[in-house]
Amino acid sequence: MHSTSAPAFTVTTSKQRTSQDERDKVLANPGFGLHFTDHMVVIDWSVEQGWHDARVQPYGPLTLDPASSVLHYAQEIFEGLKAYRHADGSVWGFRPTSNAARMQRSAKRLALPELPEAEFLESIKQLVMVDHEWVPSAPETSLYLRPFTIANERFLGVRAAQRAAYYVIASPAGAYFPKGVAPVSIWVSEQYTRAARGGTGAAKCGGNYSASLMPQQEASQNGCSQVLFLDAEEGKYLEELGGMNVFLVRKDGSLLTPSLTGSILEGVTRDSIITLARARGHVVQERKITLDEWREGFASGEITEAFACGTAAVVTPICCLKGEKFKIGDEEAPAGELTLSLRKELTDIQYGRAPDVHGWLQRLA
Ligand code: COI
Repeated sequence: MHSTSAPAFTVTTSKQRTSQDERDKVLANPGFGLHFTDHMVVIDWSVEQGWHDARVQPYGPLTLDPASSVLHYAQEIFEGLKAYRHADGSVWGFRPTSNAARMQRSAKRLALPELPEAEFLESIKQLVMVDHEWVPSAPETSLYLRPFTIANERFLGVRAAQRAAYYVIASPAGAYFPKGVAPVSIWVSEQYTRAARGGTGAAKCGGNYSASLMPQQEASQNGCSQVLFLDAEEGKYLEELGGMNVFLVRKDGSLLTPSLTGSILEGVTRDSIITLARARGHVVQERKITLDEWREGFASGEITEAFACGTAAVVTPICCLKGEKFKIGDEEAPAGELTLSLRKELTDIQYGRAPDVHGWLQRLA
């Protein structure tokens, strides 16, 4: 290994980089979350020193003390964003400052240190610079970046850790769902909830996702790709899916999505879709939506389309909704027209095929 210095970051490159052949094989069919690049970012934090030792180093296992707080009390947060290769070979991040800001909000809620926005952006740039060959160029592919912070203090008392570390790993990515843009079925969890008032629902913390896994298994057992959670208080209102936000489209062209009540993740894709739809003149209502409104509207034809959205899922059409005692829609139903056209508009911006009028892209390499 040899070391060079970049502004504030030490870069130690791997001596065992993946060969071009092997990398090309991965990039030809990356799947989601299966393959990782040759490097990672690490920045340490302690109460005494604050953030320090920012570095890019070869990708590899972490050494953690078994008493580290993250292993016991799940003091952990993460982010998800993508880098896109444009036709001229350049690489761009989509709204990375929104992820930086959300990570700070998540950190506050989980009593973890907040990484300054400039450090977050620099960390992404540093990793993409050293691993730029891992950014795929095939249609619908990108490099998924996964920043995360863990509490790694060796202490079993239940209090905010005094030591933590921030990491970024990167994974070439194709479609999140195995069938790509094909419409998915959704299972409504009527027994389990994701987040309660005052809980951690708006934070991107691992605990929210581990709590969704058992209901997600139930969804799979019922032939569905994702679980939909309802509010914890009344079990009546739509919240979000296991790992993505949800939108409904009415026959008058207006869009509905659950309002951000504190228990729902403030999705960057969610916000982008709202902006794009409003710019086209569609009414977008962020409000409480009951499950009954969806079921009845779906059955009567008042609700014509539904879709899930998130960084990983992009925009994925929903064809049917199932619960213990009902099934609405049809697995074979085609994707909605507005769903597909909003998806196209968003991805055209991300891949540089349409002008970035909202100033959402930042060049990374
Ligand atoms: C994302 O879309 O980035 C997510 O966080 C969803 C999931 C892969 C955790």
